[in-house]
Amino acid sequence: MIIAANLKTNFTREETNLYIEEIEGFVSSKNLTQEVLVFPAMSSLDTNDTSIIVGAQNAYATKDGAFTGEIGLVHLDEFAIKTILIGHSERRHILGETQEELVKKFNYYKDLGFKIVYCVGEPLKKREAGKHEMMEYIASQYDGIDTEYENLIIAYEPVWAIGTGLTPTLEDIQEIHKALKEKSKAPLLYGGSVKVTNAKEVLSLSNVDGILVGSAALYTDHFCSMIEFAQELQRK
Ligand code: PGA
Repeated sequence: MIIAANLKTNFTREETNLYIEEIEGFVSSKNLTQEVLVFPAMSSLDTNDTSIIVGAQNAYATKDGAFTGEIGLVHLDEFAIKTILIGHSERRHILGETQEELVKKFNYYKDLGFKIVYCVGEPLKKREAGKHEMMEYIASQYDGIDTEYENLIIAYEPVWAIGTGLTPTLEDIQEIHKALKEKSKAPLLYGGSVKVTNAKEVLSLSNVDGILVGSAALYTDHFCSMIEFAQELQRK
């Protein structure tokens, strides 16, 4: 399974390095074989000699150039980063990234062979508009995306569940994941208020190949427990 931590705008570089070290220490001491991904804040990227996969939360579709406030490929190359998060709801809804811009970014990093964690998910209004409209909205987030890309991971993250403590029911998650698996065979993660208290249930659902965790991942002990849950479930 894939257990991913989105650290968002948290942790300095020093704190992030300690975080990664602690997670790696846990994973190797327990011989855990799960795929663990960590997405630090931009300025906390570093040369991490680790088995944990470190990815970027964002980068512009460019090698370098005049794009104030953005980073490009050269900045990822400096730290041998080969994994990127694209389409996170905070980038779509707070930073205003459009599907067109995301597709451009997706294609740029796909052509470079990056592992891409591509996020989809509906805001509350769309959920309340009924299943048909909700699924149509999510489907539109697949527009222009190569769903057969070999290094693709998709994360289903309902916007209203992110950082709110609210989650869809387990039945809901299962049903939506089943529908999304028909759109792409790529590993499909669930994200949105995954906590140490519900991670096991979520990870047990069919068509859930892992989790993308925000707030709860800031606690190393919680994040480590989630990796261990995944391992236990896989052993069954
Ligand atoms: P959350 O965030 O776990 O705090 O809800 C998840 C995410 O944004 O990926």
